[in-house]
Amino acid sequence: MLTGAHLLARFTALDTFLTQHQALWRPRPFTHRHLPWEADHRPLGHWLRQRSLQDAEDSHNHPEHLPAPAPFPQLAAQSMALSAVGALPTQAIEPASPRLNVDVPGRKWQQIEAFARCLQFSDTPRHWLDWCSGKGHLGRRLLHAGQQLTCLEYDPALIASGQALSQHHRLAVEHRQQDVLAPDALACVSRDHTPVALHACGDLHVQLIKLASQAGCAQLAIAPCCYNRINAPQYAALSGPAKRSELRLSLDDLSLPLTETVTAGTRVRRQRDTSMARRLGFDLLQRQLRRVDEYLPTPSLPSAWLDKPFADYCRDLAALKDLSTVGEQDWPALEAAGWQRLAEVRNLELLRGLFRRPLELWLVLDRALFLEEQGYAVRLGTFCPTPLTPRNLMLLAERAETATACG
Ligand SMILES: C[S@@+](CC[C@H](N)C(=O)[O-])C[C@H]1O[C@@H](n2cnc3c(N)ncnc32)[C@H](O)[C@@H]1O
Repeated sequence: MLTGAHLLARFTALDTFLTQHQALWRPRPFTHRHLPWEADHRPLGHWLRQRSLQDAEDSHNHPEHLPAPAPFPQLAAQSMALSAVGALPTQAIEPASPRLNVDVPGRKWQQIEAFARCLQFSDTPRHWLDWCSGKGHLGRRLLHAGQQLTCLEYDPALIASGQALSQHHRLAVEHRQQDVLAPDALACVSRDHTPVALHACGDLHVQLIKLASQAGCAQLAIAPCCYNRINAPQYAALSGPAKRSELRLSLDDLSLPLTETVTAGTRVRRQRDTSMARRLGFDLLQRQLRRVDEYLPTPSLPSAWLDKPFADYCRDLAALKDLSTVGEQDWPALEAAGWQRLAEVRNLELLRGLFRRPLELWLVLDRALFLEEQGYAVRLGTFCPTPLTPRNLMLLAERAETATACG
């Protein structure tokens, strides 16, 4: 767990690491046929490119263990040291009332239980505010006798299901329809609330941090996710140190921490790989047709497109992008080249993988430092192991005076 002066110290170290090595983690292998860094690190580029797709898959979750040429091992060691945060302390919690987890997917329920075990505040919460609550599963799990719960959510269908579940469990919960980004959202947050947000995306959890600080909430807990789901075209730093950083993060950059995936089933993996290999094959074709050696963004396509013969896939996609006549091509060779590129892309991605967690931690520390600037004492750590969710970082914030007064 990181607290106090360690938050700024770690942020500063991460900032230096990420800024120094931008050339290694910013360019995406998917959109570049040759990465600029390969000219400086030829043995590393060559080593990664000759590995298979399965090799890449095997290393995806732990790129830091790869015995790759320099500077990979040195960067891996730095990445590991800078990414270490440790788990938040946990406490025993009362078992959930029977059948409270009905309708909650297994992994989500385990995340909720883990989140709940980490909620240790000096003051016992009186009124939980479940931020972007969905059906309100988290709030209901936290609710105990003598406490209140308000769930904020903007999707009417989720609110209706949440209300039905709360009634079924005879829990007095207010499920309130609210766009938390709307100007009137501040009116929904009051001093006596303890806001909790499990996986509220980008702008949504940042809005909570700002509004809870403004409203003067004594304590709050957030597990952030989807850093790239923001309305602005670029990341807007929150804290003083992040505002002073040289890093300017695009939406593409902000999606890097989300590229870690938990192991998918064979069918899902095959479908994902086929879709990407086809896109990469088409990318070679479009470069040739346009006579421009540059990536051309293509829209997301219905999965039925994967059932088309590869030639039809390319012809239809070319038509969608208003490209000149495709003509006859060596389709099997082009398709095979797409698969070959996929293996190379996935392996080259392993270098970016070393910066995935450091960038995520930089972003979460920006939130932590902003909360400190607003007068909170902050604890940052993991609330569950990565296989349960890679988005396993959690911030606990308490108004400094409350935290100190209660020891
Ligand atoms: C990733 S889900 C998390 C839900 C729940 N906290 C959980 O862990 O299962 C994000 C939730 O935010 C809601 N949401 C998205 N934008 C919103 C907005 N502007 N105002 C309120 N809720 C919003 C979505 O409908 C969704 O239920």
